[in-house]
Amino acid sequence: MTRDLPIGVFDSGVGGLTVLKALRERLPNESLVYLGDTARLPYGTKSAAAVSHYAVQAAHALVATGIKALVVADNTSSAHALETLRAEFPGLPVIGVVEPGAAAAGHASATGRIVVIATESTVQAGSYARGVLNSRPGAQVTSVACPLFVSMVEEGMVDGPIAEQIVRHYLAPQFLEPEPGLRGDCLLLGCTHFPALAPLLHQLLGPDVTIVDSATTTASAVEDVLTHRRLAATHGTPKIRYMATDATDRFARVAAIFVPWSLTPEQVELVDIG
Ligand code: DGL
Repeated sequence: MTRDLPIGVFDSGVGGLTVLKALRERLPNESLVYLGDTARLPYGTKSAAAVSHYAVQAAHALVATGIKALVVADNTSSAHALETLRAEFPGLPVIGVVEPGAAAAGHASATGRIVVIATESTVQAGSYARGVLNSRPGAQVTSVACPLFVSMVEEGMVDGPIAEQIVRHYLAPQFLEPEPGLRGDCLLLGCTHFPALAPLLHQLLGPDVTIVDSATTTASAVEDVLTHRRLAATHGTPKIRYMATDATDRFARVAAIFVPWSLTPEQVELVDIG
Protein backbone atom coordinates (compact mmCIF):
# COMPACT_ATOMS: atom_id res chain seq x y z
CA MET A 1 0.00 0.00 0.00
CA THR A 2 1.40 3.38 -0.99
CA ARG A 3 0.29 5.00 2.23
CA ASP A 4 2.48 2.58 4.19
CA LEU A 5 5.64 3.67 2.38
CA PRO A 6 7.99 6.06 4.17
CA ILE A 7 8.44 9.75 3.44
CA GLY A 8 11.84 10.52 1.91
CA VAL A 9 13.73 13.45 3.44
CA PHE A 10 16.73 14.91 1.67
CA ASP A 11 19.40 17.34 2.87
CA SER A 12 22.96 18.27 2.00
CA GLY A 13 24.06 16.86 5.36
CA VAL A 14 22.95 16.54 8.95
CA GLY A 15 21.12 19.84 9.48
CA GLY A 16 18.00 18.53 7.73
CA LEU A 17 17.42 16.45 10.84
CA THR A 18 15.67 19.59 12.17
CA VAL A 19 13.04 18.91 9.51
CA LEU A 20 13.03 15.17 10.27
CA LYS A 21 12.44 16.00 13.94
CA ALA A 22 9.56 18.34 13.06
CA LEU A 23 8.04 15.61 10.84
CA ARG A 24 8.39 13.07 13.63
CA GLU A 25 6.58 15.37 16.06
CA ARG A 26 3.84 16.32 13.63
CA LEU A 27 3.35 12.93 11.96
CA PRO A 28 4.27 10.29 14.56
CA ASN A 29 2.77 7.41 12.52
CA GLU A 30 4.94 8.01 9.47
CA SER A 31 8.12 6.11 8.65
CA LEU A 32 10.92 8.30 7.37
CA VAL A 33 14.00 7.69 5.26
CA TYR A 34 16.63 10.42 5.50
CA LEU A 35 19.48 11.00 3.09
CA GLY A 36 22.29 13.45 3.86
CA ASP A 37 24.71 14.15 1.02
CA THR A 38 27.63 14.55 3.41
CA ALA A 39 30.18 13.79 0.67
CA ARG A 40 29.30 16.98 -1.19
CA LEU A 41 28.18 19.45 1.45
CA PRO A 42 28.04 22.38 1.84
CA TYR A 43 25.47 23.17 -0.82
CA GLY A 44 25.08 26.70 0.51
CA THR A 45 28.16 27.99 -1.29
CA LYS A 46 27.49 26.20 -4.59
CA SER A 47 25.96 27.33 -7.89
CA ALA A 48 22.33 26.75 -8.82
CA ALA A 49 23.41 24.23 -11.49
CA ALA A 50 25.52 22.14 -9.10
CA VAL A 51 22.85 22.16 -6.38
CA SER A 52 20.13 21.09 -8.84
CA HIS A 53 22.31 18.30 -10.21
CA TYR A 54 23.07 16.98 -6.71
CA ALA A 55 19.45 17.30 -5.59
CA VAL A 56 18.18 15.26 -8.54
CA GLN A 57 20.74 12.50 -7.85
CA ALA A 58 19.81 12.40 -4.17
CA ALA A 59 16.10 12.33 -4.99
CA HIS A 60 16.63 9.37 -7.37
CA ALA A 61 18.42 7.49 -4.59
CA LEU A 62 15.51 8.09 -2.21
CA VAL A 63 12.87 7.24 -4.81
CA ALA A 64 14.71 3.95 -5.50
CA THR A 65 14.18 2.94 -1.85
CA GLY A 66 10.37 3.34 -2.29
CA ILE A 67 8.86 6.53 -0.89
CA LYS A 68 5.40 8.08 -1.09
CA ALA A 69 6.52 11.72 -0.85
CA LEU A 70 9.78 13.66 -0.99
CA VAL A 71 10.59 16.41 1.49
CA VAL A 72 13.44 18.64 0.39
CA ALA A 73 14.71 19.65 3.82
CA ASP A 74 17.72 21.42 2.37
CA ASN A 75 16.84 25.08 1.92
CA THR A 76 19.43 25.62 -0.79
CA SER A 77 18.02 22.75 -2.89
CA SER A 78 14.47 23.92 -2.20
CA ALA A 79 15.44 27.39 -3.39
CA HIS A 80 17.09 26.23 -6.62
CA ALA A 81 15.74 22.83 -7.58
CA LEU A 82 12.14 22.37 -6.48
CA GLU A 83 10.60 22.79 -9.94
CA THR A 84 13.30 20.56 -11.48
CA LEU A 85 12.51 17.86 -8.92
CA ARG A 86 8.76 18.15 -9.49
CA ALA A 87 9.31 17.78 -13.23
CA GLU A 88 11.65 14.81 -12.73
CA PHE A 89 9.14 12.91 -10.54
CA PRO A 90 5.65 13.66 -11.81
CA GLY A 91 3.05 12.13 -9.53
CA LEU A 92 5.31 12.15 -6.48
CA PRO A 93 4.46 14.87 -3.97
CA VAL A 94 7.61 17.00 -3.60
CA ILE A 95 7.51 19.45 -0.71
CA GLY A 96 10.25 22.02 -0.14
CA VAL A 97 10.90 24.21 2.88
CA VAL A 98 10.82 27.60 1.14
CA GLU A 99 7.11 27.97 0.32
CA PRO A 100 5.77 26.96 3.79
CA GLY A 101 8.37 29.08 5.61
CA ALA A 102 7.81 32.14 3.41
CA ALA A 103 4.02 31.94 3.76
CA ALA A 104 4.25 31.59 7.54
CA ALA A 105 6.54 34.65 7.77
CA GLY A 106 4.17 36.66 5.58
CA HIS A 107 1.35 35.91 8.03
CA ALA A 108 3.38 36.26 11.23
CA SER A 109 4.76 39.76 10.65
CA ALA A 110 2.74 42.70 11.96
CA THR A 111 4.67 45.43 10.13
CA GLY A 112 5.66 43.52 6.97
CA ARG A 113 9.37 44.10 7.70
CA ILE A 114 10.68 40.57 7.34
CA VAL A 115 14.29 39.44 7.47
CA VAL A 116 15.26 36.13 5.88
CA ILE A 117 18.52 34.51 6.96
CA ALA A 118 19.96 31.70 4.86
CA THR A 119 23.06 30.44 3.07
CA GLU A 120 24.69 32.54 0.38
CA SER A 121 23.31 30.37 -2.42
CA THR A 122 19.75 30.44 -1.02
CA VAL A 123 19.88 34.23 -0.75
CA GLN A 124 21.11 34.45 -4.35
CA ALA A 125 18.19 32.32 -5.55
CA GLY A 126 15.74 34.94 -4.21
CA SER A 127 13.00 32.32 -3.69
CA TYR A 128 12.33 33.17 -0.05
CA ALA A 129 11.88 36.85 -0.88
CA ARG A 130 9.53 35.95 -3.77
CA GLY A 131 7.61 33.52 -1.55
CA VAL A 132 7.12 36.13 1.18
CA LEU A 133 5.94 38.71 -1.38
CA ASN A 134 3.48 36.17 -2.81
CA SER A 135 1.88 35.65 0.56
CA ARG A 136 2.19 39.28 1.60
CA PRO A 137 2.35 41.75 -1.28
CA GLY A 138 4.13 44.96 -0.29
CA ALA A 139 6.23 43.31 2.44
CA GLN A 140 9.70 44.75 2.94
CA VAL A 141 11.94 41.70 2.73
CA THR A 142 15.65 41.81 3.51
CA SER A 143 17.73 38.70 2.90
CA VAL A 144 20.96 38.21 4.82
CA ALA A 145 23.46 35.43 4.10
CA CYS A 146 24.80 34.07 7.39
CA PRO A 147 27.30 31.39 6.32
CA LEU A 148 29.16 31.30 9.64
CA PHE A 149 26.00 30.16 11.42
CA VAL A 150 26.26 26.76 9.69
CA SER A 151 29.73 25.94 11.03
CA MET A 152 28.94 27.52 14.40
CA VAL A 153 25.99 25.19 14.88
CA GLU A 154 27.95 22.13 13.71
CA GLU A 155 30.58 23.02 16.33
CA GLY A 156 27.82 23.10 18.94
CA MET A 157 28.45 26.83 19.41
CA VAL A 158 24.84 27.90 19.90
CA ASP A 159 25.34 30.28 22.80
CA GLY A 160 28.16 32.15 24.58
CA PRO A 161 30.11 35.29 23.69
CA ILE A 162 31.48 34.17 20.30
CA ALA A 163 28.06 33.07 19.06
CA GLU A 164 26.56 36.35 20.31
CA GLN A 165 29.15 38.40 18.50
CA ILE A 166 28.55 36.58 15.23
CA VAL A 167 24.78 37.10 15.56
CA ARG A 168 25.43 40.82 16.12
CA HIS A 169 27.79 40.89 13.15
CA TYR A 170 25.07 39.68 10.79
CA LEU A 171 21.90 41.08 12.30
CA ALA A 172 22.75 44.43 13.91
CA PRO A 173 21.60 46.50 10.89
CA GLN A 174 18.17 44.87 10.79
CA PHE A 175 17.40 44.43 14.48
CA LEU A 176 19.94 45.85 16.92
CA GLU A 177 21.01 49.13 15.34
CA PRO A 178 18.43 49.70 12.61
CA GLU A 179 17.61 52.91 10.81
CA PRO A 180 14.78 54.64 12.70
CA GLY A 181 11.43 53.00 11.91
CA LEU A 182 13.00 50.20 9.88
CA ARG A 183 13.50 47.50 12.49
CA GLY A 184 12.39 44.06 11.32
CA ASP A 185 9.65 42.37 13.36
CA CYS A 186 9.97 38.88 11.88
CA LEU A 187 13.00 36.68 11.34
CA LEU A 188 12.63 33.74 8.98
CA LEU A 189 15.12 30.93 9.55
CA GLY A 190 15.86 29.85 5.98
CA CYS A 191 18.49 27.21 6.66
CA THR A 192 18.34 23.74 8.19
CA HIS A 193 20.84 24.61 10.91
CA PHE A 194 19.31 27.81 12.21
CA PRO A 195 16.57 26.39 14.48
CA ALA A 196 19.45 25.38 16.79
CA LEU A 197 20.16 29.11 17.23
CA ALA A 198 16.55 30.09 17.96
CA PRO A 199 17.00 30.42 21.76
CA LEU A 200 20.01 32.73 21.30
CA LEU A 201 18.24 34.74 18.61
CA HIS A 202 15.17 35.15 20.86
CA GLN A 203 17.39 36.32 23.69
CA LEU A 204 19.35 38.83 21.59
CA LEU A 205 16.57 40.19 19.38
CA GLY A 206 13.91 40.38 22.08
CA PRO A 207 10.31 39.23 22.40
CA ASP A 208 8.91 41.65 19.80
CA VAL A 209 10.67 39.79 16.98
CA THR A 210 8.74 36.72 15.80
CA ILE A 211 10.99 33.88 14.73
CA VAL A 212 9.58 31.63 12.00
CA ASP A 213 11.16 28.26 11.52
CA SER A 214 10.83 26.64 8.08
CA ALA A 215 11.21 23.16 9.59
CA THR A 216 8.00 23.21 11.63
CA THR A 217 5.97 25.01 8.98
CA THR A 218 7.12 22.43 6.42
CA ALA A 219 5.98 19.55 8.64
CA SER A 220 2.46 20.95 8.69
CA ALA A 221 2.56 21.46 4.90
CA VAL A 222 3.54 17.79 4.53
CA GLU A 223 0.63 16.78 6.74
CA ASP A 224 -1.75 18.78 4.54
CA VAL A 225 -0.41 17.18 1.34
CA LEU A 226 -0.63 13.63 2.74
CA THR A 227 -4.15 14.20 4.00
CA HIS A 228 -5.28 15.77 0.74
CA ARG A 229 -3.81 12.92 -1.35
CA ARG A 230 -5.03 10.23 1.08
CA LEU A 231 -1.47 9.14 1.70
CA ALA A 232 -1.30 9.47 5.49
CA ALA A 233 -0.18 6.30 7.30
CA THR A 234 -2.96 4.59 9.20
CA HIS A 235 -1.16 1.85 11.12
CA GLY A 236 2.14 0.06 11.56
CA THR A 237 5.28 0.74 13.56
CA PRO A 238 7.01 3.82 12.21
CA LYS A 239 10.71 3.48 11.51
CA ILE A 240 13.48 5.93 10.65
CA ARG A 241 16.22 4.92 8.23
CA TYR A 242 19.35 7.08 7.89
CA MET A 243 21.61 7.22 4.85
CA ALA A 244 24.66 9.39 4.17
CA THR A 245 27.11 9.65 1.30
CA ASP A 246 30.19 9.97 3.53
CA ALA A 247 31.48 10.13 7.11
CA THR A 248 28.75 8.18 8.89
CA ASP A 249 30.58 8.54 12.19
CA ARG A 250 30.53 12.34 11.96
CA PHE A 251 26.88 12.20 10.89
CA ALA A 252 25.99 10.24 14.03
CA ARG A 253 28.00 12.57 16.28
CA VAL A 254 26.72 15.87 14.84
CA ALA A 255 23.14 14.54 14.78
CA ALA A 256 23.02 15.05 18.56
CA ILE A 257 22.95 18.84 17.95
CA PHE A 258 19.75 18.57 15.92
CA VAL A 259 17.68 15.76 17.41
CA PRO A 260 17.07 14.79 21.03
CA TRP A 261 17.79 11.10 20.41
CA SER A 262 21.18 9.51 19.88
CA LEU A 263 22.48 7.74 16.81
CA THR A 264 25.37 5.33 16.39
CA PRO A 265 27.47 5.26 13.19
CA GLU A 266 26.15 1.73 12.58
CA GLN A 267 22.62 3.12 12.23
CA VAL A 268 23.72 5.29 9.30
CA GLU A 269 24.03 3.50 5.93
CA LEU A 270 26.78 4.66 3.64
CA VAL A 271 25.38 5.09 0.10
CA ASP A 272 26.82 6.07 -3.25
CA ILE A 273 24.48 8.30 -5.25
CA GLY A 274 26.80 9.96 -7.78
N1 DGL B 1 21.30 22.39 4.42
C1 DGL B 1 21.77 23.69 3.98
C2 DGL B 1 20.56 24.62 3.84
O1 DGL B 1 19.55 24.45 4.47
C3 DGL B 1 22.82 24.26 4.91
C4 DGL B 1 24.14 23.51 4.86
C5 DGL B 1 24.80 23.57 3.48
O2 DGL B 1 25.24 24.64 3.07
O3 DGL B 1 24.89 22.52 2.86
O4 DGL B 1 20.61 25.53 3.06
